[in-house]
Amino acid sequence: MRVLVTGGAGYVGAASVDALLEAGHDVIVLDDLSTGHAAAVPAGATLRTGDYTNRDATRRILEDDRVEAILHCGARSLVGESMVDPARYWRANVAGGIALLEAARGAGVTRFVFSSSAAVYGVPDRTPIMETDPIRPINTYGETKAAFERALAAYGTSSGLRSVTLRYFNVAGATDRVGERHDPETHLIPNALLAAEGGPPLPLFGVDYPTPDGTAIRDYIHVADLADAHLAALEATAPDDPRTESPLICNLGSAAGFSVREVLAVACAIVGREIPHEVAPRRAGDPPILVASAERAHEVLGWTQRRSRLDEMIGSAWAWRQRHPDGYRAQT
Ligand code: UFG
Repeated sequence: MRVLVTGGAGYVGAASVDALLEAGHDVIVLDDLSTGHAAAVPAGATLRTGDYTNRDATRRILEDDRVEAILHCGARSLVGESMVDPARYWRANVAGGIALLEAARGAGVTRFVFSSSAAVYGVPDRTPIMETDPIRPINTYGETKAAFERALAAYGTSSGLRSVTLRYFNVAGATDRVGERHDPETHLIPNALLAAEGGPPLPLFGVDYPTPDGTAIRDYIHVADLADAHLAALEATAPDDPRTESPLICNLGSAAGFSVREVLAVACAIVGREIPHEVAPRRAGDPPILVASAERAHEVLGWTQRRSRLDEMIGSAWAWRQRHPDGYRAQT
């Protein structure tokens, strides 16, 4: 299959590009390189530098490259930034996403997999969270992901688009080639490893949550497991597949939760020394606990998490950082 991956030069996108190539698909990456890295795109894929929010240019790429399916990983994805500059998030994630759907409709592409987020749930009433639970985002990032999910469903009804929406929980870890590199970095595991390397001490954002050790609990999923799920989701969008007669939505998590302090303890064990850290106030927009029910992804997509141990995720992230001390810069 010929697959266009938006955001394919980013962390999640690039890991998925590798998995697609390995499974024998042809891959075209569409990325404006504003947060992604050209060096993260493997030699086997074609990089089209551009913006998926440009409907006409994207349509031309879809037609010229004879694309059959779209994996839409491109987005603005920082919760904090979304609260400071919400318009940027509505433009890129919603208006831009609709431009991509228009391009797909114009080019006759009917298979679509969307990277959504656990952020659509806000503060859940119960855990593990099921896909049928209420959508009540508490930050603009989550609002825009939820809005695009609805747009995608509407396109399914009106133009026969078959879609799978994957609501990621906390993506972590690295593959041999692809690791997490953001600037600025806001995520827990890379920030802990940065502190271990001599960077600023790790802030523990809130130690007064209603959890056993007072720090927030998250459900971590290995980026390579996420890539496997993308493959399974793309298969489910095949023309006669009953699983996508109506839009399919699946959580991607493990049903296991780890607190910030637990992550820190495992990170210390991996690096073999204490990691400097300090207590800090809660971060705006952070729910206390986010843990997924992954039953639907197991049952409907046949997906299983193969790398569920936190030490595997943090260990692979640490190994990648050791191999790439300058991130992707040294490879460009
Ligand atoms: N945290 C710290 N110190 C840091 C960074 C994070 O204590 O330096 C804490 C956060 O407050 C939070 C937890 O660690 O409690 C995890 O934070 P991350 O920033 O790593 O991840 P988030 O849970 O905020 O967000 C991630 C994705 C979102 C997605 C969400 C869904 O970035 O896109 O998971 O679970 F919506």
